[in-house]
Amino acid sequence: MRYSSAIFALAAPLLASAAPARFYGKRAETDILVFKFADVLEQLETSFYEQAIAKFKDADFTAAGFPSSLIPIEQFQSILADETAHSVALQAALKSFGETPITGCQFNFDSALTDVATMAATARVVENVGVAAYLGGAALLTDPVLLTAAGSILTIEARHQTILNVLSSTGTAIPSAFDFAFTPSEVLALAAPFITGGCEIPIPANTPLALTNAGTVAPGTKLTFQATSINGTVPEESLFCQMLVGGAPMTIPLPMSQCIVPEGINGPVALFVTSDGQPLLNNVRDRAQNKIIAGPALAFIDTKPQMLGQLARGSATGAGSGSSNQASTSTRTISPAEASSIIVSAGAATGTDSSAAAPTATSASSTSGDAASSGASSSGPNLFTGKSPDGKITVNGWKGA
Ligand SMILES: *[C@@H]1O[C@H](CO)[C@@H](O)[C@H](O)[C@H]1NC(C)=O
Repeated sequence: MRYSSAIFALAAPLLASAAPARFYGKRAETDILVFKFADVLEQLETSFYEQAIAKFKDADFTAAGFPSSLIPIEQFQSILADETAHSVALQAALKSFGETPITGCQFNFDSALTDVATMAATARVVENVGVAAYLGGAALLTDPVLLTAAGSILTIEARHQTILNVLSSTGTAIPSAFDFAFTPSEVLALAAPFITGGCEIPIPANTPLALTNAGTVAPGTKLTFQATSINGTVPEESLFCQMLVGGAPMTIPLPMSQCIVPEGINGPVALFVTSDGQPLLNNVRDRAQNKIIAGPALAFIDTKPQMLGQLARGSATGAGSGSSNQASTSTRTISPAEASSIIVSAGAATGTDSSAAAPTATSASSTSGDAASSGASSSGPNLFTGKSPDGKITVNGWKGA
């Protein structure tokens, strides 16, 4: 892939301003792996937007309900330029450490590029995975300079996420005051299905998890799942579904037979299937990985559509009527469940060698954490005040004074 010199010019100041002196030389193994992995995700995003922009024509965007194709195309091109610049900068950083970036990965997005609605819904998931991946990477980076450099990318991924929420028509631009983080293995549960080969990523992947619900997922919907690890080996009655939202100290655990989306959720929810009913910690460093049978999957529970999205997507009819807070659109939109299934059906994750484990990349304390810290009843934590069982305010499991 060739990059324009303009992009190199953009990448250089990032590297220079981030760390004039300390960027060079030998780095901690974990820091290198985090940067290599981040670069693979940037390559994935770059490839996704390149293929999407190449495939869809103006008429495809207007058929999907956009008042003008210029609105989404302008944004997708701007996002593509950012992702390309991120990959260039990360690879330049790795080379300055004397490291070789992971290249040659082949990506297949056929299942996500069937139409504009599916593409836009998948892009929304991809950007949220990007945010969660950089946030999880933050817990692993040891050098504050590299942490700041990664943070300067994270903030941009979050802006992409907001634009895609707006372009989705049913989404809230900024649905939550807090985001959640994923470990690299959790990220791979979502990313690996798109990677069809050509490279080796030395990080074990969690088993991909698909939501099998047809249609819109909303509060009150019972969620149903599919994963290769949910196959009768372990009786389904003994499995739990866990819902993670930003800001909460831990997941909401529910028996699989009662995996019903609660009231009060708006925006992205990470879904896990676990072998017991202990809630998983939001705190990504200490989240018990050994309980996760499959996932995460990512769903968007859109309960508060905003006028901005309806304007961008051309479904503003009735937006001011006050009679309904549901976006009314005559064009096809993709439910969060459909987007999730699309991702898992993308491929059999053959490109990722999940047996080549790199212990540095995953939580070393998988047996600590969740069980120890959980004083919550099986009905789950108090999600929306962010209060831990001892009454302290927590954000993503980190306790305030
Ligand atoms: C069935 O699930 C178990 C774990 O729940 C897993 O170890 C096993 O490999 C799965 N079998 C198949 C055929 O996927």
